[in-house]
Amino acid sequence: MDSLTIRRPDDWHLHLRDGEMLSLVAPESRDFARAIVMPNLVPPVVTGAEAAAYRERILAAGFAGPLMTLYLTETTDPADVVAAHASGLVTAVKLYPAGATTNSASGVRDMEAVRPVLVAMEEAGVPLCLHGEVTSPETDIFDREAVFLDRVLTPLRKAHPALKLTLEHVTTAEAVAWVRGNDNVGATITVQHLMKSRNDMLVGGMRPHLYCLPILKRAHHRDALREAATSGDPCFFLGTDSAPHPTHAKEAACCAAGCFTAPIALPCLAHVFEEEEALDRLEGFASLHGPAHYGLPANAETVTLRRTAPYAAPSRVARGGLSVELFDPGHPLHWSLR
Ligand code: NCD
Ligand code: ZN
Ligand code: ZN
Repeated sequence: MDSLTIRRPDDWHLHLRDGEMLSLVAPESRDFARAIVMPNLVPPVVTGAEAAAYRERILAAGFAGPLMTLYLTETTDPADVVAAHASGLVTAVKLYPAGATTNSASGVRDMEAVRPVLVAMEEAGVPLCLHGEVTSPETDIFDREAVFLDRVLTPLRKAHPALKLTLEHVTTAEAVAWVRGNDNVGATITVQHLMKSRNDMLVGGMRPHLYCLPILKRAHHRDALREAATSGDPCFFLGTDSAPHPTHAKEAACCAAGCFTAPIALPCLAHVFEEEEALDRLEGFASLHGPAHYGLPANAETVTLRRTAPYAAPSRVARGGLSVELFDPGHPLHWSLR
């Protein structure tokens, strides 16, 4: 197969940031028609009014398809959430356990404190996206997702069976099994978790540009994700979690978490799906399962991926004093949209 025409993809988990960084990275998601935009700004996007203002800044920066989210806090007003969703402004609400990841300090410490919001969301049909990791200091960082499934997600599923859940950036075989074994739940998978294991990050030296949260796991987990993504199972869809940080924040003694993948996500995915002999399932994963989960139509327009001579992925984007290193796939790419 030398070319592949698919419905235009969407990105169901994207960080566009704000200010200078937003201007730099918004055009880099040009391959995607729409994206669920994460609300973990400083300060976070908590209210409908804040989401409306952020949406305007994103459009002005050059990304045409933002689907907005609200950052769930313990003081979030249920009525504001329901109204923002009913008006079409907001697609979903995002739950960050406090302290789990970048800019999560205003997140949730006690699930009981957000119970009234969850009840209102369940009633009104507002989806909940989750960063699925516990933050208990005694829990090993490599176990934080699996422990979250038992300690938080299973009780949440029981308490709110009609609440639509998206488990973001799944990284383990346990999460894949949990998603398959429960109703009314979808899961996003990132490019880096399909391509890399923790050995890629740690053997022979620490590679800060592969450090993201949830952290890369053992190779057998990567393989479980590859199986899930290429299986055709509509529970699983693309969320790049493209998470740019300035070069100085990544190349630091205590480096920031996040991989910047948006500009090369689709050529990387085509590479993975070809390796798995599943190119015919790329459209489902990148373009069809996500909209179906969120009750939205798939994009009408198509894009064509073409096989090219092997080329090196670009290594950074930069403007003025700001630079961001791209995720390094570790080998040349040979699919292109242009
Ligand atoms: C994300 C970020 O930098 O905002 N980082 C990451 O490693 N994935 C936050 C997140 O999605 O958890
Ligand atoms: Zn996250
Ligand atoms: Zn993210």
